Amino acid sequence: MEAKLKVGILGFGTVGSGVIHILEEHAEKISQITGYQVSVKKVLVRDLEKNRRYETKGFSLTTEPTDILDDPEISVVVEVMGSIEPAREYILQALKAGKHVVTANKDLIALHGDELIAVAQANKCDLFYEASVAGGIPILRTIVNGLAADKIQKVMGIVNGTTNFMLTKMKTEKRTYEDVLKEAQDLGFAEADPTSDVDGIDAARKMVILTRLAFGMNVDLADVDTVGIRGIAPRDMEVAEQLKYVIKLVGTAEEKNGSVAVSVGPVLLPKYHPMAGVNNENNAVFVTGAAAGETMYYGPGAGELPTATSVVSDIITVAKNSKLGTNGNAFNSYQHDTKQTSPDEIFSKYYMRIVMDDKTGTFLKLTQIFAEAGVGFDKILQEPLDDYTATVVVVTHVTSKAQLEQAISRVELEPQMQMQAKYQVVEG
Ligand SMILES: NC(=O)c1ccc[n+]([C@@H]2O[C@H](COP(=O)([O-])OP(=O)(O)OC[C@H]3O[C@@H](n4cnc5c(N)ncnc54)[C@H](OP(=O)(O)O)[C@@H]3O)[C@@H](O)[C@H]2O)c1
Repeated sequence: MEAKLKVGILGFGTVGSGVIHILEEHAEKISQITGYQVSVKKVLVRDLEKNRRYETKGFSLTTEPTDILDDPEISVVVEVMGSIEPAREYILQALKAGKHVVTANKDLIALHGDELIAVAQANKCDLFYEASVAGGIPILRTIVNGLAADKIQKVMGIVNGTTNFMLTKMKTEKRTYEDVLKEAQDLGFAEADPTSDVDGIDAARKMVILTRLAFGMNVDLADVDTVGIRGIAPRDMEVAEQLKYVIKLVGTAEEKNGSVAVSVGPVLLPKYHPMAGVNNENNAVFVTGAAAGETMYYGPGAGELPTATSVVSDIITVAKNSKLGTNGNAFNSYQHDTKQTSPDEIFSKYYMRIVMDDKTGTFLKLTQIFAEAGVGFDKILQEPLDDYTATVVVVTHVTSKAQLEQAISRVELEPQMQMQAKYQVVEG
């Protein structure tokens, strides 16, 4: 008789429902691949009376976490509750009880991944989190397995669907940030408090996870240079269009001589760049490898079934490992000392929009400040804003981040100049 593998799920919301559905719908294929009859035994919820998307057939609901964490028959715990606590505590208890864990929780993995990975290894348990980055795109396993032979140099990602939806609307419908945020909230894409999405925090968490898998380095969230999309004005969208660029919120992790620079911020991508065409709530991750060159992975970054597909593929990997007796190896078995690239070794072109007094000498002063910092201008556009002020848009030549910061700190000392936007420009 075929061996059984029992799963306990913490959470019966969007992703939990999808996992239950896929395990049932694709049961035959999953059993052929793994040699196990994989089934859900118990699901943890807060409210037993709530209407559920799928029938609770073949498993029971509970509000008591120990019903799952202490059940010796359950060997895999799937955490799809969200938030940090009590999810962290439940995962630790599961691992300490020798249960393998699959989670979709990017917040938890970005902030407490080190601790959870160490406990998983100490207990010879699997800990997988494919769905934590770019929901339905199997990007983590692609990096870990498909690109294992390559030396990854750079990972760029559009990894937040909410902001990509908003930027697509701002560009194509020429609408303001405030206007599209309201629509995203009405459609349920953005939360009532949109901070985590619009300030780039969600994307930064995903870049911490991508950096761990691509470069074996554990970067703290605080070390990710993070800027959100709140400051993007219709004028930035128009100028970008005029200069044949598209503005996207892009996370970048780049390795250089054994150090890594990780950032999230609005970026001007040339219109022909493959990521420039990634629209609406879709995600994409663009990987540059020394051997394979450039590859891009595109698809839905969230949603019930896409995200659940990633979760179930993790369960399948646990089952295969269990068959082979190879559980307990870290998802990111490649490790490297963590070192941050210094700002004088980070190079890029930059776009800036500066509002300044429309008086003789102010523009000359601006050019002097940049010249003194060694920052050259590739493109300059100037236009009056009203009778007294003008908007100056500058695209710099390739410059170091240190030089740029020096120039900006000087601009900030000038009362007649206000830096309104500063974004990276990607070439090639
Ligand atoms: N939604 C997506 O497309 C997506 C994509 C990628 C990753 N993720 C991640 O997947 C996780 C789950 O997201 P989701 O959208 O499925 O969330 P959700 O729809 O809000 O569902 C959360 C579920 O967890 C249960 N729950 C929450 N706190 C609990 C507690 N303290 N005790 C018991 N049960 C609790 C809730 O129970 P009740 O139903 O009784 O309230 C609910 O069933 C999050 O970490 C999220 O970041 C989601």
